[in-house]
Amino acid sequence: MAIKTDFLIIGSGIAGITFALRAAEFGDVVMVTKKEAMDSSTNKAQGGIASVFGNLDSFEHHINDTISSGDGLCSRDVVEMVIKDGPERIRELMELGVAFNIQKKETSQNGQPVFDLGREGGHSHNRIVHAHDMTGKAVEEVLVNRARKHDRITLFENHIAVDLITHSTRIKSGLVTTTHEDFCCGAYVLNRETRTIETFSADITLLASGGAGKVYLYTSNPDIATGDGIAMAYRVGATVANLEFVQFHPTCLYHPDAKNFLISEAVRGEGGILIDENGHPFMEKYDPRKDLACRDVVARAIDTELKKSGNDAAFLDISHKDSEFIKKRFPNIYQKCLSYGIDMTKEPIPVVPAAHYMCGGVATDMCGRTDIPRLYAVGETACTGLHGANRLASNSLLEALVYSHRAAKQAIDDFQKTDKQSLPGVPDWDEVGSTDSDELIMVAHNWDEIRRLMWNYVGIVRSDKRLERAQRRIEIINKEIKDYYWNFKVSPDLIELRNIAVVAELIIKCAMHRKESRGLHYNIQYPGHDTHWEKDTLLRRPFIS
Ligand code: SIN
Repeated sequence: MAIKTDFLIIGSGIAGITFALRAAEFGDVVMVTKKEAMDSSTNKAQGGIASVFGNLDSFEHHINDTISSGDGLCSRDVVEMVIKDGPERIRELMELGVAFNIQKKETSQNGQPVFDLGREGGHSHNRIVHAHDMTGKAVEEVLVNRARKHDRITLFENHIAVDLITHSTRIKSGLVTTTHEDFCCGAYVLNRETRTIETFSADITLLASGGAGKVYLYTSNPDIATGDGIAMAYRVGATVANLEFVQFHPTCLYHPDAKNFLISEAVRGEGGILIDENGHPFMEKYDPRKDLACRDVVARAIDTELKKSGNDAAFLDISHKDSEFIKKRFPNIYQKCLSYGIDMTKEPIPVVPAAHYMCGGVATDMCGRTDIPRLYAVGETACTGLHGANRLASNSLLEALVYSHRAAKQAIDDFQKTDKQSLPGVPDWDEVGSTDSDELIMVAHNWDEIRRLMWNYVGIVRSDKRLERAQRRIEIINKEIKDYYWNFKVSPDLIELRNIAVVAELIIKCAMHRKESRGLHYNIQYPGHDTHWEKDTLLRRPFIS
């Protein structure tokens, strides 16, 4: 099957749908998403959206907190733009029907609702707009509903993108012949039900496929977070940046049956304290801001405590707060913990750090454009310059909102200027390996090995020796996957394995390149900052022709 559209969007989180709703005012939009539309990282986001609404807060405070967390690598222009655009984008979400927590029923002097603003690590003021502890879900439900009802948006669920198509791509035969004159004209997409690869051609293509937490053994991310956008963009020659900066969330629930469950930083924002197994608070040893220090500091502190004590988990205690308040403020976390036999109103919650957010990604300009013409990237897939070396909590939904709005504006402009007559025909997928795999064990084994390798050697604390070991292994695994990929029919598991392997290799390359410690990247050989490295790490696949 071949589909032609004006705008092709890969991913169905806040970034993709916000873009879709705007682009659909000017053209036909096709969204492909690899599972159900609600299976996105947005849907899992608990904390909220950071933005300046508090009486004592100001843009300058939010800008300074973001830049301080980013540890020397934020782009000031980007930070200012995102933070200043934030309030308007959040009001638009409310107009669409998102119900954020409001502090008072009455409105402020200028007729605006008074938000109940939460606090998270690294923020000097309360500024997290939230919907209890399920902000992402509240936003995603409204957006998915709007997209489903829109007559110019067609949503293809259970469709997983395999590769981007550029003007002269012959991907399956192994020749990616991207040149400077090339531009993106869509993607090959696997229909999971029919198991066929379909050609989606488009004037504009947007990558909004989320992050890459599944590269690591332990992660707060949903299963879809396999770095697909980053891997696909890199394969066609787009520049990727800063992939060494993987954010580990300090507090994921530690329980043998719990998978990927986050205990929001908002719990510490409301007074939760990290303690060891003897009930002693430990954060004061590491940072004057204690439990509300930036995430990199808190995650490393827990890692150090666990390595010193040999314990499996630290504990987060908020049981000193009123139990009715806890249940009302954190209904989702309370119920989830209770389902594992932990009553957070009476006892501490066992927690461990886990991979949470990719600060690097496909490099874009201030309008979400990548360096491949007509290819855009927004949300966690992108690296815009906002997060620098360490993302400030709850700045990511904000970035996704602001950038998808700006990218849509720019893309509509590009679309209207496109000379439709000169668009090339897009070749159908070349079914080279046409037999089904008889070695699924290889996929399962490599998947597991990559995730363990990344956790053990490219985790919170790194060293040259560990990184070198990781690099040797990943090169072998990537070669194996390549051979396998050309010989057998493409399956969803194989597509994801191929993508996590590429992203793992890129993370390792970036981490080996940076000979210092900064933000989320900590190498014991180079424990301090070095001004020579106060710059982005950029990687681009060499051109073949
Ligand atoms: C959290 O609720 O702790 C996560 C928020 C974020 O990652 O920004």
